[in-house]
Amino acid sequence: MAASVITVPPGTVEQALPALLGEPARALRRGALVAFPTETVYGLGADALDPAAVERIFHAKGRPADNPLIVHLPDAAWLGRVVAHVTPLARRLAERWWPGPLTLVLDAADVVPRVTTGGLSTVAVRVPANPLARTLIAVAGTPVAAPSANRSGRPSPTTAAHVQADLGGRIDWILDGGPCPVGIESTVVDARGDAPVVLREGTVTREDLGVDVTAESGSPLSPGTRFAHYQPSARVVVASAGQGGDVAAEIAERQTTGLIGPTLPGLDPRVSVLASPLGAAELATVLYDALRQADVRGLDVVVVEAVPSHGLGRAVMDRVRRAAGGGGVVPTG
Ligand code: TXA
Ligand code: MG
Repeated sequence: MAASVITVPPGTVEQALPALLGEPARALRRGALVAFPTETVYGLGADALDPAAVERIFHAKGRPADNPLIVHLPDAAWLGRVVAHVTPLARRLAERWWPGPLTLVLDAADVVPRVTTGGLSTVAVRVPANPLARTLIAVAGTPVAAPSANRSGRPSPTTAAHVQADLGGRIDWILDGGPCPVGIESTVVDARGDAPVVLREGTVTREDLGVDVTAESGSPLSPGTRFAHYQPSARVVVASAGQGGDVAAEIAERQTTGLIGPTLPGLDPRVSVLASPLGAAELATVLYDALRQADVRGLDVVVVEAVPSHGLGRAVMDRVRRAAGGGGVVPTG
């Protein structure tokens, strides 16, 4: 069955949203799967407190059952509904960053089913910045578990068309609120102690948080980092700064090749330019769409030109390296 789509043009006044979203919000409450935009990527939502509904998310995505979901709230006042103990650190971080792309891991309240938390006693929570997302959740009247709305392993969706392509036949509703401005996922932080522990790099940077390490990839604290992610069918090759065009041109002699990176005059005409981002923020915004474009065009290889690995650049390069399957890195000077 095809998903029902509601298009909400950007700039729609917030007062109009509750009426527009009434139907999908009620469906959500009855166990439906509703994809919705956030400022980072599109999420695939279900009632976080309904184990059968959450089960459907894992099934639709083909997601491993031990990879826990983020529970989305309309505002911080709902924290007590899903969290057993709100630490002073969590309060501080929520006040500073919500609504926004920061996810806090805290001890879960008993009402949160284990299927939502991937069997853990903790729960990840965030208040997204997109008013459409917050209104949907508020009108549904229940916390909403939502992973990125892609088939497991694929690049996260930053448009409703991406969601449609991956999940259109498997879910009930898609809310189309236009492209996601940020383009990569939220930062996940363990906020149970006195200082934040970064579990997944994201839009809120280590520098923003005043933290200088990230939990080791694959650590039990950060289950999601164990899995393959963000991968198109095309092989992804990482080129160092300034080398994207040359690396792509060389590969284009043998295979159909796309480039994600700044394009200079004189680029080999055999190279398909997928996106020409300047800097980390632009790369974040276009990355997933450009990776998907490579598959739509049936390319063999995508070359992504690296951005400096600090601040947002570190979070983006984490996604790029995972898209490359950890390998495929071209070492250049
Ligand atoms: O920006 C985002 O975070 C998007 C939008 C839709 O909010 N969501 C998203 O969800 O990226 P997902 O499921 O693709 O990634 C959630 C990440 C995974 O790495 C997961 O392992 C981690 O959060 N996570 C969830 N619950 C956790 C927990 N209790 N402890 C540690 N990590 C957790
Ligand atoms: Mg994901």
